[in-house]
Amino acid sequence: MVDTAQTELIRRLIRAGTGSDDEIAALLKDAGLVVVARALTEEVAFRCPEPANAAPVDVALEVTHGEARHTVALRMVRDEPVRVVEDDSAQVRSRVTFTATDLVRRLFGAADSPRTGDFHNSFVPAPEDPGQLKELLSEMNTVFRDAAQATATLMAGCTARCPGLDELSIRYGSDKWASLHWYTAHYERHFAPYRDRPVRVLEIGIGGFDDDLGGSSLKMWKRYFHRGTIFGLDIYDKSALNESRLSALVGDQNDPDYLTAMAREHGPFDIVIDDGSHMNEHVRTSFTTLFPYVRSGGLYVIEDLQTAYFPHFGGSAGGSAGPDTSIGLVKGLIDDLHHREHREPAVTRPTLTQSMVTAVHAYHNIVFVEKGVNGEDTLPAWIDAAVRNALVAK
Ligand SMILES: C[S@@+](CC[C@H](N)C(=O)[O-])C[C@H]1O[C@@H](n2cnc3c(N)ncnc32)[C@H](O)[C@@H]1O
Repeated sequence: MVDTAQTELIRRLIRAGTGSDDEIAALLKDAGLVVVARALTEEVAFRCPEPANAAPVDVALEVTHGEARHTVALRMVRDEPVRVVEDDSAQVRSRVTFTATDLVRRLFGAADSPRTGDFHNSFVPAPEDPGQLKELLSEMNTVFRDAAQATATLMAGCTARCPGLDELSIRYGSDKWASLHWYTAHYERHFAPYRDRPVRVLEIGIGGFDDDLGGSSLKMWKRYFHRGTIFGLDIYDKSALNESRLSALVGDQNDPDYLTAMAREHGPFDIVIDDGSHMNEHVRTSFTTLFPYVRSGGLYVIEDLQTAYFPHFGGSAGGSAGPDTSIGLVKGLIDDLHHREHREPAVTRPTLTQSMVTAVHAYHNIVFVEKGVNGEDTLPAWIDAAVRNALVAK
């Protein structure tokens, strides 16, 4: 878990991204430019795509507030993650400067707000030694191309906009697209309304099991929900993944007591995704325990429903998944959605899922359950009776 002061700083930054200039100024006053600039730089480094330049280039990122400025350099080179290094002007080929206010808005404001004309830049400082200048001129094309590519990488990190989930899934190595599964198009459709919101997302199943750290999809969600706080839950300890806006929790998705304590501490969630063990019993335990901790207006997603037909996962043999399976759960939710239509007996005291499941979107192997107020009434009893009498009279 990232420490409390850092979590509070990120929470305020997320809020300030769509807040007033005064809110950002108050944050800078309380935390100081250096602390805010460090947090912004870390976020930029995370958001940068893979650099395209073959030769290493350092790009300086300057963040200013009034007369104060804080500068670091980001080292860009193909096949390596972007790294924050000390600002050593001799190595720096390109320099980009934002006011802290503009950078907060770029990173934590609405993704589609246009951002132009809010930065300064300068390329390749002239060397003092004339001999070096000659060398530089002879290599100008390469030097300039590498600097341009590295600067473009930095600028792609200085924005809330990002590629679609197909591309992010490939970038971070998740199997949610073009491999075992084809889920990202469904995620795009259902997650788009939450994109600009300060959502809390929980994904059960971080990936990698006990022999790899995993975290691909958590990074994908962190990049996609630029104002989001992302929690992953796994039976194995993956806390080495912890960083700002991303926490890896350790626990068993089939343990209701653990899940309840965890949800009380970190919830309520806007979105829960179950991509854990895919054992049918576990899927049902997690849903029953965590659905109450999804906010009204939120979503509960279950991946890999195919295991409802796999007996070794606790699924049913044959073509009809039984009531104890994940598909059985989904079928039950459709019944719950229609509880006002139930007759003999009519429902007098609706359950939580009857009152709060408002839609069930099932696709091949994945379901999105919407939570809200399932408040639409059935036909009034007198119409019901009149229609029945009319039909009987025929
Ligand atoms: C399919 S992987 C998750 C992949 C990841 N969501 C992604 O898209 O990159 C499933 C993960 O669930 C974890 N897991 C298995 N049983 C679990 C349980 N009972 N509770 C919590 N996590 C469990 C495994 O350790 C594994 O890392």
